[in-house]
Amino acid sequence: MEQVTRRDVLSRGLRALGAIPILGTAFAASSPLVRFFRPTVKPYEISPPPDVGEGGELVVAKASELTQAWDYRYFLYTLRLPEYTPRGAQHKQVPGVVVRLPEGAGDDFMVISRICPHLGCIFNYERDPKGVLEHCNYPATGPQFCCPCHFSVYDPLQKDAQGRRGKVISGPAPRAPFQFAWRLEGDDIVVYGMEEGSTA
Ligand code: FES
Repeated sequence: MEQVTRRDVLSRGLRALGAIPILGTAFAASSPLVRFFRPTVKPYEISPPPDVGEGGELVVAKASELTQAWDYRYFLYTLRLPEYTPRGAQHKQVPGVVVRLPEGAGDDFMVISRICPHLGCIFNYERDPKGVLEHCNYPATGPQFCCPCHFSVYDPLQKDAQGRRGKVISGPAPRAPFQFAWRLEGDDIVVYGMEEGSTA
């Protein structure tokens, strides 16, 4: 068996110490490469998240008041939007409508903003199809929402591809009306928020 002397141990130790600068240099050289593939900082956020309006809770109708299919109520909902002035916020009143849907429609009620997604006119709920013909020049067979500014017609019985009720069936509107967040609490139909971008 080979005899290990004190001199051998010392010289191996010195050789190991001599390798440290080499390893350090190799690590320093490879570090940028490693950081390139695994960055330690997150991408810089160039644009902040969009401002979202806040609103409180509002009882917009009693379910027991809207007993028949197509019964409805208009209401005003107040949204608080951040504003970068000493005022801090501005309040916007959003006109809305809640409609009792007929059986088989998939939902008991629909609650939407009446601000037309086309150019912002306030549209109406036309319970009588004759009103849709008269105000929107559209031969409706049932109740519809009708914007008299440029004749957009929204169908309460249809949803668009994004699942929003009130699909556009006529006119230039680019999408279904903005939807309110709501819930049924006992007999109260309570609105507690709105779809993002709804007052733009
Ligand atoms: S603003 Fe309603 S259709 Fe143009």
